[in-house]
Amino acid sequence: MLWSKRQGGGQPESGGHSLAAQFRRTRALTEAFVAPLSDADASIQSMADASPAKWHLAHTTWFWETFLLREHAPGYRLHDDRWPFLFNSYYEAEGARIARDARGMLSRPSLEEVLAWRAYVTEAMEPLLERPELEALIQLGIAHEEQHIELLLTDIKHALFQNPLGPAMFAPAASPRAGGGLSQPQDDSAGGSRLRGNAQGDAPGGAPGGMDWHTHPGGIALIGHDGSGFAFDNEGPAHRVLIEPFALAEALVTNAEWQAFIDAGGYREARLWLSDGWAWVQREGIAAPLYWRGDGAHFTHEGWQARDPAAPVTHISYYEADAFATWAGARLPTEFEWEAIAASAAHDPTGGNQFDAAAPPLPLGGSTLFGDCWQFTRSAYLPYPRFRPARGAVGEYNGKFMSGQVVLRGASCATVRGHSRPSYRNFFYPHQRWQFTGLRLAKDW
Ligand SMILES: [Fe+2]
Repeated sequence: MLWSKRQGGGQPESGGHSLAAQFRRTRALTEAFVAPLSDADASIQSMADASPAKWHLAHTTWFWETFLLREHAPGYRLHDDRWPFLFNSYYEAEGARIARDARGMLSRPSLEEVLAWRAYVTEAMEPLLERPELEALIQLGIAHEEQHIELLLTDIKHALFQNPLGPAMFAPAASPRAGGGLSQPQDDSAGGSRLRGNAQGDAPGGAPGGMDWHTHPGGIALIGHDGSGFAFDNEGPAHRVLIEPFALAEALVTNAEWQAFIDAGGYREARLWLSDGWAWVQREGIAAPLYWRGDGAHFTHEGWQARDPAAPVTHISYYEADAFATWAGARLPTEFEWEAIAASAAHDPTGGNQFDAAAPPLPLGGSTLFGDCWQFTRSAYLPYPRFRPARGAVGEYNGKFMSGQVVLRGASCATVRGHSRPSYRNFFYPHQRWQFTGLRLAKDW
């Protein structure tokens, strides 16, 4: 089976946690996040990696229409048979589609028309939600839409960032954090640093000072999804991995610590960087995380705000994460090490800074393993032993992207609470940083 099906325990079949309730809640959440946007806001595309908010609204609807309604609802008629060409993302088995970088050219259908399509499809899905044989596919559709909510948030942030006026998606007053406005610029050094910089050539593996660590004695760990509860296909099969003794930092690297890296010349020291990373820094003129400004501000869903020195750093690339870890005398964890720690019952995958309702996502900090930002591992995104993509179009969901990307673990402040789990594998290319990406240091023990 491609996607593991929920097996009883933990999720009642009625009330607020039923599959039908999850479906309705997820559809509504997507729309709640678009409510602050105008049709123009929702239609712009800032780069090929990002899609317009309206496209996310439509694509997630195309997914339900294509894989559930068209296949399983007797007599269902497509809302508009021209639209699959516009809103198929990458499914070769579903035929030709508009170029990815042309999604921002779709001024029609309008936002209003797309929302009407959503309502049509959401309504049409109702009879299918009670059919047990469709449960795994519906779980996939919900997880898919949850992924697109996160992409919608990160994509619109990147789009609004292009505007010199720095428009806010949410009014700053909506923020749970008070006093973060630009009128109160903060000194990034004020948050203190637990790191002892390695820029002067300390021996690799030296422990950053003052940090707390989760330690692991090493051994054979069972990695991957165990078959109970929903998981994406790329999380399995479960298999054994030999792990050497290691330690994983309890906290994420903060803005203050990243500022110390900058102040120590981290972006100018070639020896800290992977060769591809150094070439990227030189070529792109990179000198700070994405969205940082020299006056202590960063761009957020609430417009330009003062950075919190104690909050986790985000919007960094794999190259930057690796250089920082080298500078700090540490390293990035492997995805297996991260999961070996996360598998402990002490770590709640639904805990930490993830969202429950439409609100501006912002990293806050804390000691939870999940939440705030996705954490880079040093593991290439590859198939696990005995992995086989499913037949048919949905088999294109994950497997065909297993080339040239790195795995990230955890969950971010833009992740729907309950979406992630210990075996969850996110993946991006090493240079990409428009997601809420950060790092948690590791070291040999
Ligand atoms: Fe998708």
